[in-house]
Order: sequence, then structure tokens, then C-alpha cells
Amino acid sequence: MQKIIQSTTRPYLLHAGLATGTYCSTMARTTAVVLASRPDGAPVLANFRLEERPVPHLHEGQALLRTIYLSLDPYMRGRMDAGRSYAKPVEIGEVMEGGTVCQVVESASPLVKAGDFVLAHSGWQTHAVVDARQLRRIDPNRAPISTALGILGMPAFAAYVGLTEIGRPRAGETVVVAAAAGPVGSVVGQIARLRGARTVGIAGGPKKTAWLTELGFDAAIDHRSTTFADDLGAAVPHGVDVYFENVGGAVWQAVFEHLNDFARVPVCGLIAQYNQTGPSAGPDRLPLLMKAINTKRLLVQGFTQRDFVASHYDRFQTDVSTWLADGLLKYREDFVDGIDNAAGAFLGLLQGQNFGKLIVRVADDPTRTVPVPPRA
Ligand SMILES: NC(=O)c1ccc[n+]([C@@H]2O[C@H](COP(=O)([O-])OP(=O)(O)OC[C@H]3O[C@@H](n4cnc5c(N)ncnc54)[C@H](OP(=O)(O)O)[C@@H]3O)[C@@H](O)[C@H]2O)c1
Repeated sequence: MQKIIQSTTRPYLLHAGLATGTYCSTMARTTAVVLASRPDGAPVLANFRLEERPVPHLHEGQALLRTIYLSLDPYMRGRMDAGRSYAKPVEIGEVMEGGTVCQVVESASPLVKAGDFVLAHSGWQTHAVVDARQLRRIDPNRAPISTALGILGMPAFAAYVGLTEIGRPRAGETVVVAAAAGPVGSVVGQIARLRGARTVGIAGGPKKTAWLTELGFDAAIDHRSTTFADDLGAAVPHGVDVYFENVGGAVWQAVFEHLNDFARVPVCGLIAQYNQTGPSAGPDRLPLLMKAINTKRLLVQGFTQRDFVASHYDRFQTDVSTWLADGLLKYREDFVDGIDNAAGAFLGLLQGQNFGKLIVRVADDPTRTVPVPPRA
């Protein structure tokens, strides 16, 4: 990854006389990871560039934020491409998009005050000026503030709405989830279990499958094993009623064989296909899929959690907080230190190197009383 230091002569000043505060010049800059070029297939470090740039002036209604934690998520791979998706791509030279937990350094809005901890979408950078209306305040006394990016945040919310609104598991049914050791999959399995379903998690490698067993999954299958297809068949003797799709590719092909009549397939993500540049090799399996949808009366529904925020977010917060407090939900965070390590960690995420919710610790967390655990 290339590193560029841009010079600036602008001191950091609150604009338009909104406040009298003036920052020393070190506060005038943010270190940001920008998109340097679009990937051709799998992204590489050269697609990113570390830049030091001036922080914009603070206008009325805005807040200056200091990033503490940056979330790294699979959807960011899609933002690196120019093609149409449900969100607009990051342009070349723009700061990479991403959810963050920040502390307010200065506010020109009545909505937040200096010192507050907030959930933001301020991207891969150390400081940012944002519209305060886009911020959600985080109560550091409720849970560790990093959890706003994982178990109390976007990935767990995707799990919650995808499973309860589309998957709709009933007691005794078999629920299979892919990328099961991640922040989406681990929550899917645990909520399905709370609903009385039999749960089967698919993950890469023995450490991850062992953790799924600790979480209470009824079976945990390693998709990297040469016996994967047989292991899966043995784990679902009565077929699959809900397949929570996070992966696509070979995992989907294997699970597809076992779908029962009236099975539901919430299509949350397709990470195995995110680096694909052209059509898949091999025979066209679309007619087979359409036939199965027709004859087995399958429900296959894509979704993005954003569609459910207005209707379900508050209920999600209440339910998940309660389950956490009652010890019914467990989660795992995987911390990487430093904004300059964000790009490398993101490339690792696409290859399954993360174990739990992948978070970059950009700056010290003043609320944390125990040190972050070392990487597994
Ligand atoms: N629809 C929505 O609103 C929404 C919201 C959040 C996330 N998502 C999607 O949900 C999925 C999971 O997200 P997450 O944040 O929980 O990610 P995650 O599990 O932390 O990370 C992705 C995991 O996918 C697995 N993986 C990568 N390539 C694979 C392949 N070729 N075959 C099988 N598994 C592969 C790896 O785990 P293993 O080592 O276990 O293989 C990797 O750790 C992603 O597809 C993401 O795009 C969708």
C-alpha cells in the first residue's frame, strides 16, 4: 500500500464563528485509507493508499469525530467495484466506506457533545467531520462500545431480520448457516437455537467449528475438509428447512441438494463470489435451481438489513440486549491494531483469516477496562 503525505496550510478552525475553539495543527489532519484503483478479481494491497489529509472545517450541525474502532465487513468488497449494486461504489481517491465507533471531539450540533461515544459511518480514517444527524449515541455503560459494530450492530441485525423475517424457523426444523463463525452466522445459529431449531453451522477449519460447538450448534461442518459434502449430508438427516446463505459457491451447491419442500433461503451475502469477474465455469445450473424453486416450493429471498432499520432496529436492540444479559448469546471480536493495517486485515477477511467480528482499533478506547484479546 502506497503512503502519501499531503501538505496543508489550513489550521483547524471552527467555521463561521460557531464556536471559539481552535485546534492545534496536529488536529487538522486525518490519516485515511483511500481506494487507489479498482481490483480485477481478488483485491490486493496496491488497490489502497494511505493518505494524510486535512480535516474539513466544522459547519453548523456537524461534529468532528475521532475514530476509535473501524468495522471491516465483506460488503466493502462490492463498494470497490464500479458496477451497480444496492449502494453506490467508492470512487477512486475517495476514503473507503465503513462503520465506526468514534468519540466526539467537537460539536457544532445540539444532538451530540464533545466526549460522547457515537456510531458513525465515517470510513477508514482517524478523524472525520460528519452531519450529527447521522450519528447514534452509544452508552458505554451498557456494553463494550466495540459491540456497536458487531453483536449490537449491523451484522447481528442482518442475522436477526434475515432469520426471523425470511427464514422463520420453527421448533424442530433444521437450520443451516454458512460463514457460521462470523458475526452474522454465529448470531443466526444462536437465535435459531433459541427458537428450538436444530442448528448446523458451516465454517472454515477446526478452530472455528470447535467454537460453533461451544456456542451450542448441534453440528459444525468444515467446508475446507475433503469430506465436506458427506459430513454435511450426515449432519442433516432430515434435510434442510432454512438455509441462511452468506457464502454461495461450493457451499451453496452442497446445501442445495438437501433443501426440503417449503425450505426458506434468506440470501444475506455471497462472499465466495465477490471476487468473480465473469460468469461461473461449468454447466449452467440455473434451470435446476428454477425447477427446485418450483417443485419444492422454495422461498429464496435476497435482502439487505438497511431495508429493515426503520421497522425492526429498536426491537432488535431490545431482544439482543436481553439475550446477552441472560447469557443466551455469545460473540467474538477479532481486533487488529492501527489504520495502516486495515487494508491487509480486509484482504484476510475475504480469505477467512478473521475469527469473529473483524474490527480495527484505530485509537485507544478510553472506556475499556480489560485489554483487547490477542488475535487467535
Ligand atoms: N444482507 C445484509 O444486509 C448483510 C449484512 C451484513 C453481512 N452480510 C453478508 O453476510 C455474510 C457474512 O458476513 P460477516 O460479516 O459475518 O462476515 P465474516 O463471517 O466475518 O467473514 C466472512 C467469512 O466468510 C467465509 N468465507 C470467505 N470466503 C469463503 C468461501 N469462498 N467459501 C466459504 N466461506 C468463505 C470466511 O469464513 P470461513 O473461514 O468460515 O470460511 C470468512 O471469515 C457476507 O456474505 C456479507 O456480505 C450481508
